[in-house]
Amino acid sequence: MLQKGLQVLWKLKGIRQLQRKLSGRVYKSDFEWVPGMTTLEERNWFYQCAKEREWKGHIVDLGSWLGSTTVPLLKGLAESKTENAVKVYAFDRFIWNKEMADVATWLPGAPQLAVGSNFKSVLEENVKPFGQRAEVIEADLKTYQWNKGEIELLLVDAMKTRSLTVQIARSFFPSLKPGAVLIFQDFAHFFTPWIHVLTYQLRDKLKPVYNVPYSGSMSFDVLERIDLAELSFLDDIDSYPAIDDAFNYSLKYTNAENKAKVIAAKAMWYVYQNNLKKAKEIYDKEIGPEHYKLEDVAGVREYINRTKTIIFFEK
Ligand SMILES: C[S@@+](CC[C@H](N)C(=O)[O-])C[C@H]1O[C@@H](n2cnc3c(N)ncnc32)[C@H](O)[C@@H]1O
Repeated sequence: MLQKGLQVLWKLKGIRQLQRKLSGRVYKSDFEWVPGMTTLEERNWFYQCAKEREWKGHIVDLGSWLGSTTVPLLKGLAESKTENAVKVYAFDRFIWNKEMADVATWLPGAPQLAVGSNFKSVLEENVKPFGQRAEVIEADLKTYQWNKGEIELLLVDAMKTRSLTVQIARSFFPSLKPGAVLIFQDFAHFFTPWIHVLTYQLRDKLKPVYNVPYSGSMSFDVLERIDLAELSFLDDIDSYPAIDDAFNYSLKYTNAENKAKVIAAKAMWYVYQNNLKKAKEIYDKEIGPEHYKLEDVAGVREYINRTKTIIFFEK
């Protein structure tokens, strides 16, 4: 009942702005109209990031959903000095699932679609003002192989499972130009521990530069070309031998507000391994009770306590 009431209030723009203002957060953005799972801080920053360079390589947005990442990138690109041939490629498989339907019940401006329906036309409508600059691609990133040339900005919001992480890295990373920007929207999220293994293993090539406040987004500079051969560790990522080192490395440069989320991701790594004892040990020893209310911490706790279980575990 209370939750329903709060959801109704959240639909009012004035209430959202007031709440953000009172918490000292960004409360205005040109991109608030796009229904999305990103914060205004992230949207404004994606825009700034895309605006600041004369891009020679493409901009690629993985897991665009309704465009809260894509639209800021497109507006920034359009306002940069970049020539017209450079585009934003927006990828998604566009299948409306139960989680999306649940989120859409309270997310302002979100369409109410049937589970299983295709939502590509919603994204296409949202990016229409940018004309040829926007290329929307319907694809399953579990199998898709990128072959459209050099990438200078890659924003990843689709590394939701191990197999997606592995295939996205293999497919897109070798096309990243030295000097490119690589952003992981899920860096500080409990559900996606593989990202920490990836960024640790590639630490000589990926320099962490910015953890966007009030979000899990972390941006890296690509220092050198990443060869496909360097990604062979992904063949057996489950047996990665240096998990503690990987997470300790991430924790060094993660914002204070996000550290507990990264530790929750470390515990989640062991949940995926079906090693609940180790996951619980990390939860008990490394996450202070002051963080227990955080969504990510509560999230991993549900899996450790088996009040939620992972129904598919991909090999
Ligand atoms: C958390 S949402 C992204 C949110 C979005 N970036 C935004 O701005 O609100 C993750 C997206 O990844 C997409 N996705 C999940 N698995 C995928 C797959 N195998 N291939 C392509 N897209 C996928 C989903 O359809 C979903 O739109």
